[in-house]
This record gives sequence, C-alpha cells and structure tokens, in this order.
Amino acid sequence: MTAHDVTSRVRPWSDPDLPVARRAAALLAAMTLQEKVGQLHQVANPDPERDAAALAAGTFGTCIVASGQHAGNVRDTGTQATAVNDLQRAAVQTSRLGIPLIIARDVIHGHRTVFPVPLGQAASFDAELVRDCARVAAREATADGVRWTFAPMLDVAQDPRWGRVAEGWGEDVWLASHLGVAAVEGFQGGPDGGDLAAPEAMAACAKHYVGYGLVQGGRDYAEVDIGPITLHNRHLRPFRAVIDAGVATVMSAFHTLDAVPVTAHVALLREHLRDDLGFTGPVVSDWGAVGELRHHGMAADDGGAAVLALRAGVDIDMVTGAYSGHLARLVGDGVVDEALVDEAVLRVLTLKLRLGLFEDPYTDPSRAAAVHLTPEHRGLARRAAASAVVVLRNDGVLPLEAPPRHVHVTGPFATATGELFGTWTLDGRAEDVVSIAAAVSERFEGTAHQDRPTRVTVDDGRFPDESHLRAREADVVIACVGEHPLRSGEANSVASLDLPPGQVEHLEALARVSRRLVVVVLTGRPLALERLAHLGSALVLVFHPGVEGGHGVVDVLSGDAPASGRLPSSLPWTTGQVPLHHDHLPTGRPLHPDGPEGRYRDHRDTAQYPFGFGLGYSPVTYTDLVLSATVLGPGEVVRASVRVTNVGTRPVVETVQLYARAHVSTISRPVSELVGVRRVVLAPGEQQEVGFEIDQHVLSHRDALGRERREPGPFTLRIAPYAGAGVTARLDVVSSPARTGTTGEGGGARLDPIDR
Ligand code: GLC
Repeated sequence: MTAHDVTSRVRPWSDPDLPVARRAAALLAAMTLQEKVGQLHQVANPDPERDAAALAAGTFGTCIVASGQHAGNVRDTGTQATAVNDLQRAAVQTSRLGIPLIIARDVIHGHRTVFPVPLGQAASFDAELVRDCARVAAREATADGVRWTFAPMLDVAQDPRWGRVAEGWGEDVWLASHLGVAAVEGFQGGPDGGDLAAPEAMAACAKHYVGYGLVQGGRDYAEVDIGPITLHNRHLRPFRAVIDAGVATVMSAFHTLDAVPVTAHVALLREHLRDDLGFTGPVVSDWGAVGELRHHGMAADDGGAAVLALRAGVDIDMVTGAYSGHLARLVGDGVVDEALVDEAVLRVLTLKLRLGLFEDPYTDPSRAAAVHLTPEHRGLARRAAASAVVVLRNDGVLPLEAPPRHVHVTGPFATATGELFGTWTLDGRAEDVVSIAAAVSERFEGTAHQDRPTRVTVDDGRFPDESHLRAREADVVIACVGEHPLRSGEANSVASLDLPPGQVEHLEALARVSRRLVVVVLTGRPLALERLAHLGSALVLVFHPGVEGGHGVVDVLSGDAPASGRLPSSLPWTTGQVPLHHDHLPTGRPLHPDGPEGRYRDHRDTAQYPFGFGLGYSPVTYTDLVLSATVLGPGEVVRASVRVTNVGTRPVVETVQLYARAHVSTISRPVSELVGVRRVVLAPGEQQEVGFEIDQHVLSHRDALGRERREPGPFTLRIAPYAGAGVTARLDVVSSPARTGTTGEGGGARLDPIDR
C-alpha cells in the first residue's frame, strides 16, 4: 500500500484527488463537536505563541488581521507572510486534525499599492479597470499571506451622509452589479468563481448583506426599512450578480431590516440568500454583530445570540466568541441541532479545500518584495487615479496644456500624501505617495512659458494671507480642498455635506485675487457644492485617489490623461435634498413643465450635478438614435445605436450610457434605469456609432417574490452622457413574437453576460 493509499484511507480529506465535497464530509465525520465549533469562530490578530493552546485545540478556524471594526481608519502593523506562516504552522502541526486557518483582511481598494476608494473606481464606469485593480490587490495581499478579503461592498447608497458610501460603487444598481462582479473576478482570479487554489487568488466577500446603504438618516448602523419589491430590484440585485459570478463568501450586515437584525434574519439569510439567490458558500457575520443582538434587544446573552444567529444562517461568528463559548453546550442541551453546526462547518471546510490550504497552507515570504508596488502596479494606480477625477465645470482653463508662467498650489490637500489614500487603507504607506503639489512641480518645472521657466509655488493654506499673496502673483491657482479620510468610511456619518468649515471662505477669498482658479475637491463622498457653483474657472471632484493620486490628478489637469471620470452618485445642491438618486420612482403628481421647479419651496430638488455627469476636454454630440425594431417580443433582440461625434479639438473618452424607462408595468418603475455602458475613445472630429443589444431580460424587473417579470408595455430608451440627457426612442415590448427570425443585427455591444 502506497503512502498515498494510506493517506487516502486514514485521512481522505488530505487526498487532493478526491472531490472536495467528499473530502469535506470525511473531515467533518472525523471532528469532535468542539472542533466543529472552533471552525465557526473567527478571532482577530491571533499570535502563534500567545494563542498556542487555542491553536492546538482548534478553538478558531479563521482569523482577521485588523485593528478593529473601524479598521478602515485605524492603522495597524500590517500582515507579513512570515507571521502568517508561523500561525499556520502552529495550527497545522499542533492541532489533532491539522486543519489550516484562513487569514482574512479588509483589502478594500488595494494592499501596498492603494487604488482609489471604490467610489473613485466607480467614477471610471470601467469594469476592466476595477477587475485589474482587484487582481493586483489580490496579488499583493496573498504575498503577505492573506487569502480572504472582506470586499467588494455592494451596498447601493443613496445618502452621502453615510460615511461608507466611499466603500461602494455609488447609487446605481447596474453599476454596483457590474463593478462588483469585476472586483470578485479580480480577487478570485477569474470568472465563475475563479481558481481559489491559485497562490495569487483570495476569496472575495460580498458585503454587507443587505440594504446597509439605506441606514436611516445616513446614520451608520441605524435601522433600515425596505419593501420586498425594492429589496429585489435595488438591493439584492448586486448580490445576485456576484453570486452568479461565483463569489466565495458573504458577510451579513449590522443593521435591522424591518425590525429584525440581519444577523438573525432567517428570511434574508436562508430563503433569499440560499433558496432564491442560490448561494452555497459561508456567511460570516460582521464584526461583533452576533453579540450585538443583545444591544438590538433580541437576545439576553451571548448564548441566546448564538442560537438566533446560527438558526438564521450565520456560519462564522466574527470575534464575538458567542459560538465558541456556547454552541457545544447548546447542542449538548438539545437547544441547537448539531445538523445546523455541521452544515456551517461543511461550508467553512469546503472553502478551505477550495483555497488549496490543505495542500499548501504557507506563503512564500520572498513574493512580497517582488510584487508590492511594482512600476506596473503604480502605473495602473495612476490610471485608476486619473479615472477617479470628475471635471464638473471648466471655462476652458483646463487642460493646462500650455505651461503657465506661474502655478500656485494651495490648500490642505496640496502637499497631502497619506490623506490621498482614503478610508480603509491598512497597508499603504504615506512615503509612497507623490503629493499633488509635487506632481505639479514634476509636470511643469523645467517647462518654459515664453522661454521663461514655469514657476511653481506651494502652500498648504495654513496662512490664508500667504495663499492670497501667492495667488495674486500666479497665472493659475490650483486650490486642493475637501474632506479628510478620517471623516469617511465606517462610523463616519455627517449631518452636513458642505465642505469642512472655513474652506469655502478661503476659496472665495482666493477667487477674488486669482486670475484663474482651479478648485480641486478631494472627498470620500458626494458633497453639496452649491457655494462653488460659480467660483473660479474650474471645479474638479476627486474621490480619494490612492497612492498615485497626485500624479493622477495632475495628469488630468494637464491634459496628459483624459478627463474621463463620471459621477457614480448624484451631487445635491444642499444636504436637505438627500436621499437623492437618478433612479427614483415617478409620483402620481408629475411637475407641470410650466409650473414651479421641484417640490421644495426653499430649494431645487434636482441634482446640482446628476448621476453619470462629467466633462471631457472636447464636446461630444449624441445624434441619430436608431432602433433595429420598435417592437420587442420574447426571445428577440433589438439593437439601439447612436452616433457620437467629437466636435472639439482634443481626444475624449466618452462614457455612453443606456437608460430605460417602463411607462406601464405591474409595479411603479424608476424614471431612469441604467442598463448599459460603453466607453469609447474619440479623436478630434471622429464620430462612432455606439450600439447596445437589448432583450426583454434587460428591461425586466422582479416582483415581491423575486421572480423575474418580462412585461409588455411602452418603454423609453435613452442613450446619454448622463442621466436625463441624450437622445430617446420608444420601444414597445410585446408578449408574443413581434417578428419572425429576428436576431440582433450585430455590431452593437452585446450586453455583459451578467445581464443574462
Ligand atoms: C467592520 C465592517 C466590515 C469589515 C469588518 C472587519 O465593522 O463593517 O465592513 O469587513 O468589520 O473589519
């Protein structure tokens, strides 16, 4: 009998030639109840020496390397492969069954190479870019021993007072779905779940299941109320998309939904997530959320919380200790059925087997130096940073192609480095960053203005009088203001979306003395910029752009990179307008075109800058919206195409957006639904025909039971540069075939498979 045969008989779970399901079942059968419970317990920052006994006893099965539930804004010592290997060695070599650990971390928007916050990546509307950023993040994080990230966040957020809007993809369901899938594929190494056993792959985690973006008043952790139709059509849809794409894990959210904490919500975690969406991987609670059932008033103690959470379908208890402290007793007392423990443990063991951890639990320590912050990764970060830049207003001062005689850079973000990272940055290093001011100097010093070297001066705005003096002397002033990342992310809600105190006054004073003032606002959330509406020559919004943020911003200001960023969330005029989103429902009393604008007596209720908006450096026209047919039957495809023309003198990257509106349906449907995006590059004077293929699935919705409904009725299709603009055409969906033999006439952009 060969050694392999012995292994296969004695420890079949160690036999890589056996199916994962069989290996997991065999291991489960060999485990004691205490060992099973250990697999459902996640601890933070374990230490191989301090926790040697716990590791030998198999008291925990996964761990998170983090500084705490507000990990996003609290730096820690980071992860190193050698430390992770020590931990793994203790688990594998000293525990009875040698079950390896999964090491998790919040790798939200990069590891050592920090990319723009997800909201900034969303401004690119570029799924390929998002996928590439996630791929690099996985390459770098796995080199430090991380094999599970708690990302992507898929919360559809309509209220920027909520600090966590920075961590998601904005207000739109389609964008969150598409970019969420791209992130999962990047993290996990490819489509259909990727190849988790690949050394550079890590398990992704769809979070925070579900509806967290609607916390009342934008107050983090507050209650959420969503009806079933809206739940299916807005908030479950991105989760459905990433589950179809093979996301490995899901994280349940903190909040209550309809008065039941998600952590204890059987309907959400079993009926919707398992039965309806078909998710089969493990669910991990959010940090401490199982124990927090006591604060929700749902449990008297951790034991009661453990019963509720396990019965609801939470497989792993993140750091509370409720499972490890009570489940074995609860099973012994007959309160909890051991079958519930077994199904949760099987999911965890299956994930470990899929990650290849039984074959190779260790990380090659030499990898990190070879992959962290390579020139290639920096180049991607620079491109991503430029894509996070949204030009909102420009009187022609941008791009600064001709080197000005004297550029003055001022404001709190002028010389900022680590602040460019944004929230949830755990492994980035401020010393890796080139500030905006330094990037301006790099770009313009050495250039000449009428044979005289361009002069660059800098101040950080601490002395406004110094700033004003310098501004008076300069041709162009670049004022870099905005929101510090400490005010962004988890537990950082704000009651006002205005710029931080004092910044507008400073800008107003600068505007009075500057020849040409370019205002650059860096932020982790949409802000209310009404007072900047007419201030200066240009207004540019940048969602915290990451390690190459300085270069990315200057690349766009100088014209070295296109101004391609588009708003992933509507910008309100004032805080009182939120929640505000383009895909709102109509009312029973539409505004009369000749009547007063809006519902507020004291302000507008439209966006100052709408979803999808952003200026390029060359005007583009949209004409000739043509449909291959005006009626769409079941199984048929209609192609909608438009002619886009660059009528300016500079190249442009145009984000062509396809919106749909159903006018008659069994539910009231949004006035504007994004259903497709295409990014095209247009040379000066160039025109292109941009097409989309549409079928009834694309125009469908879901009913209160989550069933897809492809209903007949009139639709308006809109192809536009942003919500509410562009050109429209009517399309009638019918319930019987409209044309025999109809097929897509080809040529257009086949909507992503995700739309199937
Ligand atoms: C935090 C966050 C969650 C994060 C987890 C681990 O509280 O809600 O997004 O992944 O805890 O840090």
